[in-house]
Amino acid sequence: MTIGIDLIHFSTSDYFLGLDTFAKEKSVDLDKYTIGIGQEKMSIAPPDEDIITLAAKAAAPILEQIEKNDITAVLFATESGIDQSKSAGAFLHGLLQLPNRCRVMEFKHACYAGTAALQMATKMVAANPKEKILVIAADIAKYDVDSSGEATQGCGAVAMLVTDNPRILKIEPGSGYYTEDVNDFWRPNHRETALVDGKYSTKVYLNSMKHAWDNFVEETGRGFDDIDAFCYHIPFSRMTEKAHKTLIKKVGAKIDDETFKRQTDAGQVYNRIVGNSYSASLYIGFCSFLDNAEESLEGKRFGFFSYGSGCVAEFFSGAIQSNYRQYLMTDSHKKQINSRQALSYQQYLAFYHSVNLSVENIKLPLTNKGSYRLKAVENHIRIYERQQS
Ligand code: HMG
Repeated sequence: MTIGIDLIHFSTSDYFLGLDTFAKEKSVDLDKYTIGIGQEKMSIAPPDEDIITLAAKAAAPILEQIEKNDITAVLFATESGIDQSKSAGAFLHGLLQLPNRCRVMEFKHACYAGTAALQMATKMVAANPKEKILVIAADIAKYDVDSSGEATQGCGAVAMLVTDNPRILKIEPGSGYYTEDVNDFWRPNHRETALVDGKYSTKVYLNSMKHAWDNFVEETGRGFDDIDAFCYHIPFSRMTEKAHKTLIKKVGAKIDDETFKRQTDAGQVYNRIVGNSYSASLYIGFCSFLDNAEESLEGKRFGFFSYGSGCVAEFFSGAIQSNYRQYLMTDSHKKQINSRQALSYQQYLAFYHSVNLSVENIKLPLTNKGSYRLKAVENHIRIYERQQS
């Protein structure tokens, strides 16, 4: 049985903060961002955009292409949770009018949760091939103003339809895992912004990758030379270079610069201008690879490294299906990114760091240009609306 990603589409917000504007505001050399961490822009969510509206924008184009009543489960991964009890998937289920004969669940472990949901979906389809599962990973990466993480914010959501006989990616059985109880990045319930020990977090990321890789090799018998392209979790795009160099050194591979680029570069195009989207980041990187690779990827094997601070990591692989290009939503991805509006630093502060939604009642001004928006909070309940385009 072949199981994997049948369709994939991502969304981001309508606004961005350029790292050039950011560097000027902070009096920092721009090269630190464009070269040192490899970022140019960060997508910024206005107050009436949250993980639910991002998720709806990501999923809607997939639902337009299938019979939406066939969806049997929504597995929603996020670390920007909006309710301690009701799952984010339930809000999304209502907004997208999904069938009642369906289960919804929320998955959490930092940026790893998207992979947990994706792998769970493959197991559900293996148990019952009739299942058609909507996996969502959606996050808004937010750090304190003037903290080390502020330059690595961003937001986005990815929707993946997981089925039998997938048209885009077959997910191969066998994964390598690594878990360790560490405090490299965390967000206690009372905080809207994450706390991070930045340099330590990059060390833990790389260390956990080496362990997950060892376990992957033991479990699958596959090695570096069996993999054509690599997608790593991308908190900032330079992390891909660090991760790939670390893996190459570990396995003792000898590869030239051109091969290095072919194995990793196409996966960074979007993340460089979207920023970190936590649980969605790895899969926006995968979309980036599919949309921007110059050569056809048919039959190529991808290695995926998923990392969630705290920390849980997984290395797994998948094979690109024949004719996959026919099913990509490249135009939609590029259109969203290219039509974003630039913000000044003051506008960014007003959007990202000034509105408190932890209140009983609030009406939100219309700034979200997408098809779905958060309209208000009434009696502590989030109210969403579908906008006519
Ligand atoms: P920082 O202190 O702002 O920057 O922290 P830095 O001084 O370390 O500089 C960054 C790089 O730019 C360095 O290169 C500098 O040399 C270089 P490196 O040593 O890394 O090779 N640099 C320059 N290059 C060219 N021209 C210049 C220049 N100046 C400096 N003029 C840090 C950077 C990433 C730590 C910070 O942004 C941060 O804390 N980010 C948030 C944490 C993070 O993203 N961690 C990544 C791993 S953990 C992870 O991925 C999980 C996560 O997604 C969350 C989750 O799982 O839920 C975060």
